[in-house]
Amino acid sequence: MVSVGIGLAGFGTVGAGVFRALKQNGDLLAQRTGTHFEIRRIALRDPTKSRPLPAPLEIVTTRWQDLMTDPKISIIVELMGGTVEPLALLRSAFAARKLVVTGNKALLAEHGAEIFELSRSANMPVFYEAAVAGGVPIIKSIREAFIGNRFESIYGILNGTSNYILSRMTESEMDFHQALREAQSRGFAEADPSLDLNGWDAAHKTILLASLAHGFWVGTCDIKVEGIETFSNLDIRFARQLGYRIKLLSSIRSHPDREIEISVGPVLIPASHILASVNGVFNAILVRGDMVGESLFYGRGAGESPTASAVLGNLAEAALSLSSPTYGSPGPHNLYGRIKNPDSCLAPFYLRLVVNSQPKVLTQIASILGDAKIGIMSLVQSGGQDGHQISLVLMLQKAVVGVTRKAIRQIAVLPCVREKPVLLRVEHFV
Ligand code: HSE
Repeated sequence: MVSVGIGLAGFGTVGAGVFRALKQNGDLLAQRTGTHFEIRRIALRDPTKSRPLPAPLEIVTTRWQDLMTDPKISIIVELMGGTVEPLALLRSAFAARKLVVTGNKALLAEHGAEIFELSRSANMPVFYEAAVAGGVPIIKSIREAFIGNRFESIYGILNGTSNYILSRMTESEMDFHQALREAQSRGFAEADPSLDLNGWDAAHKTILLASLAHGFWVGTCDIKVEGIETFSNLDIRFARQLGYRIKLLSSIRSHPDREIEISVGPVLIPASHILASVNGVFNAILVRGDMVGESLFYGRGAGESPTASAVLGNLAEAALSLSSPTYGSPGPHNLYGRIKNPDSCLAPFYLRLVVNSQPKVLTQIASILGDAKIGIMSLVQSGGQDGHQISLVLMLQKAVVGVTRKAIRQIAVLPCVREKPVLLRVEHFV
C-alpha cells in the first residue's frame, strides 16, 4: 500500500464533500488502487466560519501556499472558486511539481491555454472531471474511451439550475422568478445564480468539452452564449403546442474543413427527442463519434456527492500518474480544428412577435423574410381583436443564421412590432 498526501484547497460544499467522501470510501479506494489517500492540509479562507462539517483545525491553514511547501503532499485538490487565486495556485503547483485535481471550470475555460501549456512543458497532467457535468464521467470518456473517434457532434444539457427552472416552468407553468426561488430554496441554484442564468456556467463547460474533443483552445470570445432570461412562459407554452421543449443546450458541431460550430443558448428541441426528457437538475450529454455513433450520458451535474465522486476518480488517476509519469493525457494541444463563425451556419428558427392587430402586419413581416429568402413553415396567432396586440409565432425554415438575425433586426423596428422579438434556434439533431 502506497500513501499519497493531499492538500485540499477550499472547504465549501465540494471541498467538504471530498473530505467526507474520503472518510466514507477511502478504504474502498485504497483496496481498489493500492493507494491510501491522506488529506494532510486544508487551506480555507475563514477558519472561524460555522460549517455543517467542521474541518479538523490541526491541519487547517489560511494560506494555500502552505500546501506547496509540505514535501509529503503530492496532489493538490483545488476547489476554492474564483479564478485569480486558483491560477496562482496552479502555477505554484507546477513549479513545486505537485499534480492538480480541480473542479474549476471558469479557471480552465479562461486560462486553459496557459494551464495546458504549463502542463505540457512540465509533463504533468491536470485532472478536471468535476469541472464538467459533476458526477458524469464525460471528460474521461472523451479523453480516453472515445480517443479513436472524430467527434461529429456533442450536445449537452450542462447547467442543472437552468434545466430545473425550465422544467418547472414547463411542467407546472411557474413563472421564471417563482421557479428560480424554488431552485434556490431547494439548494440547487447558487445564492448568486447569474452565471447559471446568463449561460456562462454552461459555456465554461462547453469550452472545456470542445477544446478537449477538437484539440485547440476555444476562447471565451469565440462562442455565442445566451441564457434563459431571453424568453418567457409564453414561449414555453407555444413550444409545447408546436411539439417542442425549450432547453438550454450546448452544441459543438463539426463541419467540413475541420471547422467547429459552438453555441450555448435556449433552443427548441422536439418533445420526442431523448434530451427533451432530461428534467430537473439532471445533466445529459449526447456524443456522436464517427466510430461509436451516438452515446448518451445522464446524471447529476452538481451537488456535494456527485462532484466528490468525480474528484475521487481523478485522485485514482493522479495516483497512477505519480507511479507512471507517462500516464495521463496532457489535454488539448493545437492539433486540429478552428472555430466556424456561427452566423455563417444554417439553422431553422422559432420567432415570436408581439404586434398590433391591424391590416398588412403580416405582409410587412413576410416581405422582409421573403427578401432575405427565409421561408415560413408555419404560423400561429394568439389573442387580439382589431386594435389590440397579438402574439405571432412563426417557424422559420433553415437559413443562414446571420441572414435570419439581420432580417429579425429589420422586423424589430417596424412600427407595428410592440416588443423585442424572441428568436430561438430549433435543433433537430441531424
Ligand atoms: N451551478 C451549476 C449548475 C453547478 O447549476 O449546474 C456547478 O457547475
